[in-house]
Amino acid sequence: MLYAAVNLQFTSIVDNAHGKSYTMQLKTLLTQRFSAAMTAVGIPSDCSPMLALSGKPQFGDYQANGAMGAAKRMGKNPRDLATEIINRVDLDGIADKFEIAGPGFINIHLCRSFLANSLSKQTHKLLDAADQKTVVIDHSSPNLAKEMHVGHLRSTIIGDCLSRLLEFRGHTVIRQNHMGDWGTQFGMLIAELEIQLGDGEPALLALNDLEVFYQQSKKHFDADSEFADKARDYVVKLQSGDAHCRKLWKQFIDVSVAHNLDIYQKLNVGLLKQHIKPESAYNDDLEAVVTDLCKRGIAVDSDGAKVVFLPELADKNGNPSPMIVQKSGGGFLYASTDLAALRYRVGDLKANRILYFIDARQSLHMKQVFITGRKAGYAPHSVSLEHHAFGTMMGSDGRPFKTRSGGTVKLADLLVEAVQRAEKLVREKNNTLPEADIKAIAQKVGIGAVKYADLSITRTNDYIFDWNAMLSFEGNTAPYLQYAYTRIRSIFRKASIDAKTISSALIITEQQEKNLALKLLQFDEVIDQVAADCYPHTLCSYLYELASAFMTFYEHCPVLKDSVEKDTQLSRLKLCALSADTLACGLDLLGIEVMEHM
Ligand code: ARG
Repeated sequence: MLYAAVNLQFTSIVDNAHGKSYTMQLKTLLTQRFSAAMTAVGIPSDCSPMLALSGKPQFGDYQANGAMGAAKRMGKNPRDLATEIINRVDLDGIADKFEIAGPGFINIHLCRSFLANSLSKQTHKLLDAADQKTVVIDHSSPNLAKEMHVGHLRSTIIGDCLSRLLEFRGHTVIRQNHMGDWGTQFGMLIAELEIQLGDGEPALLALNDLEVFYQQSKKHFDADSEFADKARDYVVKLQSGDAHCRKLWKQFIDVSVAHNLDIYQKLNVGLLKQHIKPESAYNDDLEAVVTDLCKRGIAVDSDGAKVVFLPELADKNGNPSPMIVQKSGGGFLYASTDLAALRYRVGDLKANRILYFIDARQSLHMKQVFITGRKAGYAPHSVSLEHHAFGTMMGSDGRPFKTRSGGTVKLADLLVEAVQRAEKLVREKNNTLPEADIKAIAQKVGIGAVKYADLSITRTNDYIFDWNAMLSFEGNTAPYLQYAYTRIRSIFRKASIDAKTISSALIITEQQEKNLALKLLQFDEVIDQVAADCYPHTLCSYLYELASAFMTFYEHCPVLKDSVEKDTQLSRLKLCALSADTLACGLDLLGIEVMEHM
């Protein structure tokens, strides 16, 4: 889907047309001016001018589509009404041509000088202090019992993208990696570890492959009832602070965490050790949370367990949705921990907004936690609670992505393969590069391809994992954007000019220059859009359209040819520099690196 097609077109501009300097979305500015004109010709004030980006340059840059609706309401001829609006609208120095198309669409052609002026003054400002929020971002959050697998990719990278993007806008971002380190499985795992360490095996070796270790302990657990009893006993001991169990547990967790941190680094994801706030960190709060819920009458006793019944989520027969917060045996659950975490994030971290990037299959759980958290006052309504769910990564057979033998694909293996495949491609494309460069480029291309293939799909959809498509140099892919970037950089090398030093005025004459300038001006508002709705594909589509607009510009508008006048040349170089910067900045917000050569 193209960016223009989803009707998310805004831009941040500096409007100097009326002598005043202020930053405003281009769409907002046009909407204001058209609303004023519509009121002036007697159109009811609740009729929207319906500003939208034009699909094609021949239909102008923007369209105002509100005349038809207004005319219908007023019983007037829509084209006549559109003419009246055009005659009234004050866009001096901003737009230089209007056309009425079809039943009453108004096509708006913006002034080239206005675009040039706005673009040369564009700065990527931070939000005003008053709009800066404290945003807690719960992402990645794998269970530590096993190795990270492909199922953890989406939460990790979508959450990382939003963390980068919100930080870029000036928000205070607090990442929270809510790792699962505390379930019943850990009794079994530490009982197994105890045996293997008893055989003289160092922990690092025993836990060399967490997947294998997990299988071994599971086998043990199922076959040996004595072992199973011990495992159950160890869970209880672990949770009540027994030193021996804690020590074994810590050894296990340290190895598993190190493995995850290694993956984050390979993925170029900003999650660090200090962002880990695992389930166990809330252990001491759970009792208090459940007692509090009971005291407030939010949780009630049900066959010895403590349960929150939620009529808000009743099934079709009217039965309220149950959420167990304490088992009859006294054990706490995933839900109790999430409530404690919510209380901590609001109370201690002072979050204004909490984003959860978790699989769509946990939607009911999140709804239960949010509703209960509100009722208990852990999150007042001033705090925005948002579960941003996502679909599943599928194999080419349309079923969840698996190995050939049907096992889960380890994330570490997937990343190794991505880099290997990218290396092959880079060698095919350019085998004159030094060996070290090839390796470094392959790393960025391979990892970028995997991430971009995921981020560029509408978050809520499932998608099919396809090596060939994601590593293609054509189409909406990371390699295409990285390649576009290297092409622009090569222009500056050829001209022996430092892109940062070009400060000349922009002169926009050709249609391709205009299209590119308009795209460049839209960057900030795309960022704001993604910051609001947390759909990174909007940014991907934008970057793809920007790269395409650049390529078209570069085909039609010579830059370094001798025949090009000096002023024009400098202006075009400036457009090149802005394009490269915007691509690099946008890719960086996606967590994707660029390079000078490819
Ligand atoms: N560890 C959980 C899982 O792997 C995800 C945790 C998500 N975050 C949360 N606060 N519940 O399914």
